[in-house]
Amino acid sequence: MTSEPIDATGTNPTTTAGHVRGTARLSQRHGAEFTRIWGMGDHRPERVVTNDEICQYIDSSDEWIRERSGIVTRHQAGPDESVVDMAASAGRAAIGHAGIDPARIGAVIVATLSHPYQTPAAATLVAEAVGARGAAAFDLSAACSGYCYGISLADDMIRSGNSDFVLVIGVEKMSDFRDWTDRGTAFVFGDGAGAAVVGPSESPGIGPSVWGADGSGYDLIKQSPDWVTFRRVLDDPNSTPQDRRWPWIDMVGPSVFRWAAFKMAPIALRAVQAAGLSVADLDVFVPHQANTRIIDAIVKQLKLPEHVVVAREDIADMANTSAASVPLATTRLLREGRAKTGDVSLQFGFGAGLTWAAQVVVLP
Ligand code: UT7
Repeated sequence: MTSEPIDATGTNPTTTAGHVRGTARLSQRHGAEFTRIWGMGDHRPERVVTNDEICQYIDSSDEWIRERSGIVTRHQAGPDESVVDMAASAGRAAIGHAGIDPARIGAVIVATLSHPYQTPAAATLVAEAVGARGAAAFDLSAACSGYCYGISLADDMIRSGNSDFVLVIGVEKMSDFRDWTDRGTAFVFGDGAGAAVVGPSESPGIGPSVWGADGSGYDLIKQSPDWVTFRRVLDDPNSTPQDRRWPWIDMVGPSVFRWAAFKMAPIALRAVQAAGLSVADLDVFVPHQANTRIIDAIVKQLKLPEHVVVAREDIADMANTSAASVPLATTRLLREGRAKTGDVSLQFGFGAGLTWAAQVVVLP
């Protein structure tokens, strides 16, 4: 069924006495001139899973996993430690670091691919848990780019006057969507959460975002199978236990590797240029923690000077935590004193979709 065509005569007839259609002038908001990250926090589940433990389920070795990915361990959330719990924990830490009243938070954005409810969003519960009841709350699906997408939105929302402060959280419980028997991914992913409070600033603290997506790579990292196919398989009396495997995050590793290692550096460079800087101006580089070899390839292509601190430790200890990886790695650098308040950091997420987002930020 098609809808009625819109009347394009251009006339605005008077409908009732004194009212002329289309003449009311509405207001739009203007917000802060600049924004910055006020505080950051993280949540790292206690349980550490070694490569040897993973190799009980797949034909692999600690040596192979370290060499090919840089991963040594990953953290795994407990059975009752949910995406919402981890996000709220990281969010509270970020609010504490920012030193603001959570009631001032106007929006909560949770970037995740592992909240186990199609609806409602995790963010509504997270807002409640951090003391931001009444704030707008929604989840953002951009996989490993999700946190940097969220920072871009928060910057826009504050500069448009839509919110005073925005809480952005990247969180994953990838262990709920890991197939322990899949050799290509069982060792790759980890659990955790990282958060940032974004607010108004007297000077520029978040550079223009360079972000995008390429749907021609949709099949390269994705949930497999989708929920509807999975239900059909469950209903099919002839399906095998193998068919009935719980949906997991599947990845065509080598294709994603080539895309990330060779196509992403120019995007990161554009974010530096968009901020009016050169790589020599950077203090810190926090790329998505997907693979040490990808980080090395991007660093080389960017020709980063020696003084730039590159986040590499989290891929070793935490593995690939998807949307959580950039805020987790940043928080770690700050905690360990390798990055400092006021440092200029290039942060960069890329992953399923395919999606990417990069921006230069001033660290809190
Ligand atoms: O977060 C979103 C973005 N994600 C990424 O950027 C991840 C990108 N991809 C990767 O990091 C890498 O592709 C992996 C670390 C996942 C895999 O490393 P790879 O070097 O691409 O391995 P491969 O799949 O090309 O396999 C190389 C060899 C193959 O053997 P042959 O054919 O050369 O004899 C595989 O069968 O290694 C074999 N192999 C393994 N061996 C031991 C594949 N998986 C394993 C394994 N253990 N787990």
